[in-house]
Amino acid sequence: MGAGIAQVMAASGRRVFLHDAAPAAVERGLAGMRKSLERLAAKGAPHDPDEVLARVEVVEDVVDADLMVEAVVEDASVKQDVFRRADAALGPEAVLASNTSSIPIASLAGVTGRPERVIGMHFFNPVPVMDLVEVVRAPGTSDETVTEIVGLARELGKTPAEVNDFPGFVSNRILMPLINEAAYALADGVAEPDAIDTIARLGFNHPMGPLALADLIGLDTCVSIMEVLRDGLGDAKYEPCPLLREHVAAGRLGRKSGQGFYEYA
Ligand code: 3HC
Repeated sequence: MGAGIAQVMAASGRRVFLHDAAPAAVERGLAGMRKSLERLAAKGAPHDPDEVLARVEVVEDVVDADLMVEAVVEDASVKQDVFRRADAALGPEAVLASNTSSIPIASLAGVTGRPERVIGMHFFNPVPVMDLVEVVRAPGTSDETVTEIVGLARELGKTPAEVNDFPGFVSNRILMPLINEAAYALADGVAEPDAIDTIARLGFNHPMGPLALADLIGLDTCVSIMEVLRDGLGDAKYEPCPLLREHVAAGRLGRKSGQGFYEYA
């Protein structure tokens, strides 16, 4: 998602610094951006892929900027480390945003010296195509920061929706139990994956079935989000389905690893 966020920021004319701890992820991200930009250009988007990519600079560490959007693994301690480093590297007026799917923003704001400038800016996969940005206001986030990020989301051509800082926010509190239940239906032998997804696509008019969507999101991310919901809301109904855990333990993480509920070329 980091590459998708970098892409929409650069396409809006902004200069973007892209940083990832894993060089291979940067390479994958840049290749994905080019493919996506070319697809959009072929359909008449006004952006020249080379020009957009020229605004993206790969950097070796967190650097000074007006805004940081963190999109690292869904692990609070890893995110907190990024927020500590960003708090030291970015000027005092810069906004520190997280694309977290579920982790309370207050737990990230708490490791910085600027809680009023910390906010959730939650994009949706695939970022260049999906219109929503869930803007998450933590108790310490200032009105000014919310206004700036809502305005930025609109400038990116997205529709912002403001929510408060609860585990999983609104999006994943609704979506993840659906995916988890689909995994239980498969594990119980109610139906094969294709039938489960066909029922959601044709029965509810969802663009993708829940199992295909889980593969797109990443099964490891789905498990992490369920754990945040279970622990944060204190309800065992959010326990991740054992089948999801089995896939993750076996390295079947979805599209990104070539196999999840389905196989990918
Ligand atoms: N970049 C640019 N364009 C892309 C793209 C990308 N990465 N991916 C898809 N597209 C475009 C295609 O060119 C096509 O455009 P067109 O309709 O104008 O020709 C359009 O999107 C549809 O693509 P496809 O024909 O290849 O395939 P689909 O019709 O199946 O659409 C999809 C793909 C957009 C992914 C659609 O299936 C969909 O909307 N799925 C649901 C996605 C969803 O629910 N995302 C949210 C996940 S939750 C999340 O991210 C939050 C996190 O916290 C977990």
